Amino acid sequence: MGASKIQVGKIQIGMIGLGTVGSGVVQLLEKNRDLIRRRLGADIQIKKIAVAQTQKKRSLKIASSLLTDKVEEVLNDPEISMVVELMGGIDPAKRYLLQAIEKGKHIVTANKAVLAHHGAELFSAAEKKKVGLGFEASVCGGIPILRALREGLVADQVTSLYGIVNGTSNYILTEMTSEGSSFEEVLKKAQEKGYAEADPRFDVNGIDSVHKLVLLLRLAFGVQVDVESIYTEGIGRVGPLDVKFAEELGYRIKLLAIAKLEGDSMEARVHPTMLPKETLLATVDGVFNAVYLLGEYSGPGLYFGSGAGGMPTATAVVSDVVDIAKNILSGIGVRGSERMVPSKKIKPIEEVQCSHYLRFMAVDQPGVLAKIAGFLGEEGIGIASVIQKGRKLQQSVPVVIMTYEAKGRAVERALAKVDQLPVVTEKSLAIRIETDLG
Ligand code: HSE
Repeated sequence: MGASKIQVGKIQIGMIGLGTVGSGVVQLLEKNRDLIRRRLGADIQIKKIAVAQTQKKRSLKIASSLLTDKVEEVLNDPEISMVVELMGGIDPAKRYLLQAIEKGKHIVTANKAVLAHHGAELFSAAEKKKVGLGFEASVCGGIPILRALREGLVADQVTSLYGIVNGTSNYILTEMTSEGSSFEEVLKKAQEKGYAEADPRFDVNGIDSVHKLVLLLRLAFGVQVDVESIYTEGIGRVGPLDVKFAEELGYRIKLLAIAKLEGDSMEARVHPTMLPKETLLATVDGVFNAVYLLGEYSGPGLYFGSGAGGMPTATAVVSDVVDIAKNILSGIGVRGSERMVPSKKIKPIEEVQCSHYLRFMAVDQPGVLAKIAGFLGEEGIGIASVIQKGRKLQQSVPVVIMTYEAKGRAVERALAKVDQLPVVTEKSLAIRIETDLG
């Protein structure tokens, strides 16, 4: 007697976009077809993929009959029950998502920009039409951090969260430690490997991180926050010199997305941060992402993994596809979106108090250090240590000062005064230090 064949149904999906992540999704659905069929009890079949150019040369092997340059063929197909949006950007992605929802199609997206800026509208539209909106892939690619927050930690209140959520900038900061690699070379490598955003300035200037922080805040604290209300600073002014000084002082520099609950208000900010070398987050190098969080009763947790790249991100996309497909097949409807609480006031960055690394470039001559120290003193900023390397009389040299805790406002004012000195040759740099992650 031959083995009896198990009858499986199928769920047909449509895709919009076939870039790095889209190609990953196509490959993953192919490579793990049996595994997914076994776990879901049905096949996931891609019916149509809307792309900008159907004739474009692609390394991915794909039947040309699947491709269309008319997005309506995905949005209007009654057999397509789920639309996977992987085109990125805000316009026209938002319009397509709303159209798909309006037609009763479930949505899966990796598009953090559109959700960070228009989440309230999109989540509410999906809720109204009773369709699922999966967005696991939008934050930290292959790390199931949104599921961990939504499900694993549903019974606990997360009180603080620190995330390395942009792989490209972490890769750049890591490579800066190795001699001879310029910022441009490393960024080019990140682009070639498919880590960087279509516009890599978003990786470097903190925009990609702040988009992800908005989504983490939604799940961790239950608040919907405007992107513009979060202080955002990228890694553009951090140089190999700072990375070396940090190392010497026992720290590592990471671009962090930080959120802390403080009663009725909260901290939410993105900026380069110095972490003591022995902190777990400080050891996360290269393109890897990690989120360290503190739960009121669950305690500290570190979620680490591949935050960028086609295949890791595809696993997150397909996890949402399978999740929604399970709901469709079981007929239990969709899980509504998260219940939100009234938004909390974000503490202004000028009020945030921490120790700072300050780096000045000044002409090496007697009395300069005294002047800088004087300005810091006027603002009530205490000095913990000072380094000035190499004697180069009358040439510009770095002067590094580590401060005790001081408010952002005081540091900003002191630096503005220092930058007026004729002996100071470039804009001074301040990097916040976080020592106690809880
Ligand atoms: N460009 C992002 C990063 C990957 O470098 O982390 C997608 O979110």
